[in-house]
Amino acid sequence: MSTLIRGGRIVTADSDFVGDVLIDGETIAAVGPQLEAPPETTVIDAAGKLIFPGFIDPHVHIYLPFMGTYAKDTYESASRAALVGGTTTLIEMCCPARGDDPIEAFELWLGKGERSACDYTFHMGVSRFDEQTAAALREIANRGVASLKVFLAYKGAFGIDDGELYDTLSLAKELGLIVTAHCENETLVAQLQQQLLAAGKTGPEWHEPSRPRRVEAEGVHHLMTFAEMTGAHVYCVHTSCEAALEAVQAAHLRGVNAWVETVIPYLVVDKSYAELPDFQGAKYVMSPPLRDRSEQPVLWNALRSRLISTVATDHAPFDFAAQKEMGRDDFTKIPNGIPSVENRVTLLYTHGVATGRIDLATFVDAGSTQAAKLFGLYPRKGTIAPGSDADVVIWDPDYRGQITAAEQEMDVDYSAFEGWEIQGRPETVLVRGAVQVAGGKFVGELGHGQFLRREPTHF
Ligand code: URP
Ligand code: ZN
Ligand code: ZN
Repeated sequence: MSTLIRGGRIVTADSDFVGDVLIDGETIAAVGPQLEAPPETTVIDAAGKLIFPGFIDPHVHIYLPFMGTYAKDTYESASRAALVGGTTTLIEMCCPARGDDPIEAFELWLGKGERSACDYTFHMGVSRFDEQTAAALREIANRGVASLKVFLAYKGAFGIDDGELYDTLSLAKELGLIVTAHCENETLVAQLQQQLLAAGKTGPEWHEPSRPRRVEAEGVHHLMTFAEMTGAHVYCVHTSCEAALEAVQAAHLRGVNAWVETVIPYLVVDKSYAELPDFQGAKYVMSPPLRDRSEQPVLWNALRSRLISTVATDHAPFDFAAQKEMGRDDFTKIPNGIPSVENRVTLLYTHGVATGRIDLATFVDAGSTQAAKLFGLYPRKGTIAPGSDADVVIWDPDYRGQITAAEQEMDVDYSAFEGWEIQGRPETVLVRGAVQVAGGKFVGELGHGQFLRREPTHF
């Protein structure tokens, strides 16, 4: 089966021209001007449209036992949401609890992905490190997982101690795995939380003061020091502020191999949302927290200068009713996370490209190509080139609409962006040659998604 996408403006991280994309089965066969369509080819007219490589979200949570509850989405709902939002590959954090067996956890998460409509892979979480863990991580790496995840936060839950961090990074260096890390000083967070609660400061507006910018920067500095001592390659997830970015810049000057992710909420919403009355602020509680508005221009500039490599979501969906409400009397009990896997790409386009903050090449690079390169998926994913998987987004730049929870695919009872205007949207989305979205709606097949085996590249 072949498909010809005719006459669109094809934009990758390093090229931009009007032409055609010829797809043969699951892969791209040719890219260029006025390609011949073989007999029986389905032709999609893309005149006036933008053609992007499928977007990659390198930080999502779908199955997540966390803070006494479970994240709401399944792979069915999350992958449909991802696809209507233009994301064709998800990299989920596999987050076992400290006592769990890593291989059993990996297999549990793997099983959850079977009904996915888009492709997926995992960062393997390390929440304990001992000899058995080391053996298990070697096996998981052999089974195609080329990245790990550690938490320097969440004391008593996913967080690891410094000895475990050192051992994890040393093993990663040996195996060529990149280590993604949640960076906040967990001792400081615990102390500040207790002080605030003791002073009767219990609402969601106190979440940010309990995890201030310096606490995040300290976590990043800590990770950088350990990366320097072990030679491991590291990736700071959900980076929210200038102080944290400065810690990475300083490490770059020392030769540390470190990359930075930010997430879409930090670029478009700020801590005033977590201060909304009537506990509505709980919808905006995530960690690290939403920051002062003055951080946003810094993040956009860091994206433009490529100090920030990727824009992810940290999609972690918890209903407002019954889940966020668990923390009505104590902000430390509000399940952390802002659902956004469906909205990342359209918000990045609307608030980044359409406002002139970033150009189209940066949009594609940060939304797709860099994640593919860093996590061992390139050039299979992250570009439009002969031989690459035919993951293609046909984008309508003239579309105008609004975000609303009533119409979203994410299985959660609110949208953090309710009523927001959007400019442009994915009109048609293909995953390995199969049309999964048409006219902006999911029309595809659950179970079409594949687990992506990856090779280590970070030696
Ligand atoms: O608030 C967040 N970030 N929730 C998900 C868990 C994590 O820290 O990534
Ligand atoms: Zn995190
Ligand atoms: Zn996360």
